[in-house]
Amino acid sequence: MGVLAFPLFLPLLWRLIVVNASFPTTLEGPFKPVTVPFDNQSYHGNAIDLPDTDPQIQRTVQGFEPEQVSVSLSSDYDSVWISWITGDSQIGDDITPLDPESVYSVVQYGIEGSQMSNEEVGYSLVYNQLYPFEGLQNYTSGIIHHVRLTGLEPSTLYQYQCGDPYISAMSDVFYFRTMPPSSPTNYPHRVAVVGDLGLTYNTSTTFGHLLSNHPDLLVLVGGISYADMYLTNGTGSDCYPCSFDESPIHETYQPRWDYWGRFMQPLVANVPTMLVGGKHEIEPQAEDQIFVSYSSRFAFPSEESGSSSSAYYSFNAGGIHFVILNPYTYYDKSCKASTLLFIIFIFDSYSPGFCISILSIQ
Ligand SMILES: *[C@@H]1O[C@H](CO)[C@@H](O)[C@H](O)[C@H]1NC(C)=O
Ligand SMILES: *[C@@H]1O[C@H](CO)[C@@H](O)[C@H](O)[C@H]1NC(C)=O
Ligand SMILES: *[C@@H]1O[C@H](CO)[C@@H](O)[C@H](O)[C@H]1NC(C)=O
Ligand SMILES: *[C@@H]1O[C@H](CO)[C@@H](O)[C@H](O)[C@H]1NC(C)=O
Repeated sequence: MGVLAFPLFLPLLWRLIVVNASFPTTLEGPFKPVTVPFDNQSYHGNAIDLPDTDPQIQRTVQGFEPEQVSVSLSSDYDSVWISWITGDSQIGDDITPLDPESVYSVVQYGIEGSQMSNEEVGYSLVYNQLYPFEGLQNYTSGIIHHVRLTGLEPSTLYQYQCGDPYISAMSDVFYFRTMPPSSPTNYPHRVAVVGDLGLTYNTSTTFGHLLSNHPDLLVLVGGISYADMYLTNGTGSDCYPCSFDESPIHETYQPRWDYWGRFMQPLVANVPTMLVGGKHEIEPQAEDQIFVSYSSRFAFPSEESGSSSSAYYSFNAGGIHFVILNPYTYYDKSCKASTLLFIIFIFDSYSPGFCISILSIQ
């Protein structure tokens, strides 16, 4: 949708396939940086959102069974976060938030091939997206669970199940591989960085490319669900400001986030995925709250990396140290951050020669 709808890295992805037959891994490098001009012949026009009726985005679980499962990294290889949602969301005039304490947050896990005899307990929450305006509908989420696993071995495949074992509501078994230890000689094989993923038919193409290339780590940069291209009544548009200039606030249709979580589960339940908020995740609502859905649905290694906000955090992936900076949050009384560039530094903290920085102006 919109100008930035296409995955920024798809052209590069295709070029690599054509040139090298398969993706090189970082261990085959170092490579000279490659810049590929944007192929505006193949990538013009608007991407079309998956409709509400698409089978891949339906709620298929019963009761309080987990759905929208994802794994993300903590600050180092020995720890990850597992996140999921239980219970159904509600939207409309008469909504009652679920009690987050009513369902336990438990992950059972072990090294692949052994018993899942380790157990970790986490916390749960619900969030609301409220619009104090006549005619607009409010949303309250299902129960969102986050559990941090610790004491993990490096470069090791783990299997896990999440849910509430006391009500027999456990998920399927999923797998994740931990990052290698942080040193100048250890790197994840493949790191996929994708911007503006959205939830369109073209997202399906990118999703397929990602799955088949088995990344060790996925970094998703802003433009995640595009729920902010919709009114609260579920009417969407390719161009929000052109279509909905009457609306008293920039509305969203939060069920799109649930659709996105279901669609992405086969990938993000098995590949550690780090999110970087962008302008589509701001989603202003009552009492001037912003980024509520983004920061509630996913876990971030903020506390572990000494940050008080999901807008800023850092983590190690082998010899790479990622620093994530969200430019859409005030960071200084005198400077509105949204006038800045959107910057991610991906650099190796050990060897000064290895440095990638990704800039995107939003
Ligand atoms: C594609 O880019 C070229 C070079 O920048 C430009 O001349 C051409 O008009 C563009 N075509 C479309 C369809 O945007
Ligand atoms: C939505 O929530 C706001 C803030 O609590 C409230 O003012 C408004 O009346 C609610 N809207 C509906 C339709 O219930
Ligand atoms: C994007 O999806 C549309 C169908 O909605 C398709 O016609 C188009 O070819 C796709 N674009 C790319 C670059 O795959
Ligand atoms: C949603 O609201 C818009 C603006 O008020 C209106 O034009 C549209 O018909 C509504 N759609 C539905 C499905 O009610």
